[in-house]
Amino acid sequence: MTTHWNRKDQHIHLAEMQYNETSSNGLDEVRFIHQSFSEIKTDDVKLNTTLGSLSLDYPFFINAMTGGSEKAHVINQNLAMIAKETHLAMAVGSVSVALKEPSTIESFKVVRKNNPDGLIISNLGAHHSVDSAKRAIDLLEANALQIHVNTPQELVMPEGDRDFTNWLSNIERIVKNVQAPVIVKEVGFGMSKETIQQLLDIGVGVIDVSGRGGTNFIHIENERRDHKEFDYLLNWGQTTAESLLEAHFYRKQADFIASGGIKNPLQMLAAFGLGAKAVGISGEFLHMILTKGNQVSIEQIESWKEELTFLMTMIGAKRIVEIERKPIVLSPDLVNWCTQRHIN
Ligand code: FNR
Repeated sequence: MTTHWNRKDQHIHLAEMQYNETSSNGLDEVRFIHQSFSEIKTDDVKLNTTLGSLSLDYPFFINAMTGGSEKAHVINQNLAMIAKETHLAMAVGSVSVALKEPSTIESFKVVRKNNPDGLIISNLGAHHSVDSAKRAIDLLEANALQIHVNTPQELVMPEGDRDFTNWLSNIERIVKNVQAPVIVKEVGFGMSKETIQQLLDIGVGVIDVSGRGGTNFIHIENERRDHKEFDYLLNWGQTTAESLLEAHFYRKQADFIASGGIKNPLQMLAAFGLGAKAVGISGEFLHMILTKGNQVSIEQIESWKEELTFLMTMIGAKRIVEIERKPIVLSPDLVNWCTQRHIN
């Protein structure tokens, strides 16, 4: 077993261990106003959405998690079967390990094998070359590529990167030289309007703000350290709701994905209300397949589709993009965030 294999298994184990820890992604602080006359019927509601040139049948998807170990192979196989059955899009975890260690390639390829016609998204870190980005896409015959930005995780990870000087210019090169759509994503620390402006300046059109309030990689990497020095840093970053508010001004210039602690259709609705066009879910799906198995997970996903349709009917929204036009009220904390950050 190499260190990579160990790290991937530890991430899965520690993410599942922290599943029940209470932390808030802020989406429960967004309330829709109940209206007595929705004036639409459930059959009017369509759940499909778009992210740049990508068309998704459903507005929530299986976000990046794993690959690169035997355990990850099994998880990816199960997730791919669920994605195929439910027509959800699916991202894999970073394929970096597969580019370095060919013996791990199958743990990623299994995703395409089990879902030949599905929408599959590859994933790499921000320091990789254009050539690696192209290989990452080819490996999975992927429809898009996610580039993750995860500075706090790298720094708390004992064996992580320490030099972040070339990330932006590197992402710019990838965006300009790769044919497939490129999505830049955080990994649970959220984004700011300054970051979003930088991404727009280099031509990024789809951004996953991946905020705080779900899987916490400072916590996970800290648990892997001998002395757990970073206990005080667990609240670092913007919540998912705060990140979407940061993105508010840029909604016409890019398509935003919300992720970070999303657990049910009402939180999805709140994310769409704040302008997201799709929702990514990792920790919740990991927990689901590990504790309930594939069949119950498929039933849960099918139920969520129906529940989301009901919620959209309640607020009179026939399409995902209509949800952000419905009146909402924010908690005092979120209003305070907007005031201090000059967001209106
Ligand atoms: C992740 N995440 C992640 N993201 C990424 O871009 N590349 C990766 O390799 C991984 N690896 C990974 C492993 C595991 C076990 C989990 C649970 C998550 C981060 C993920 O895509 C997402 O941004 C965050 O987890 C926040 O969403 P949730 O988990 O709170 O829904």
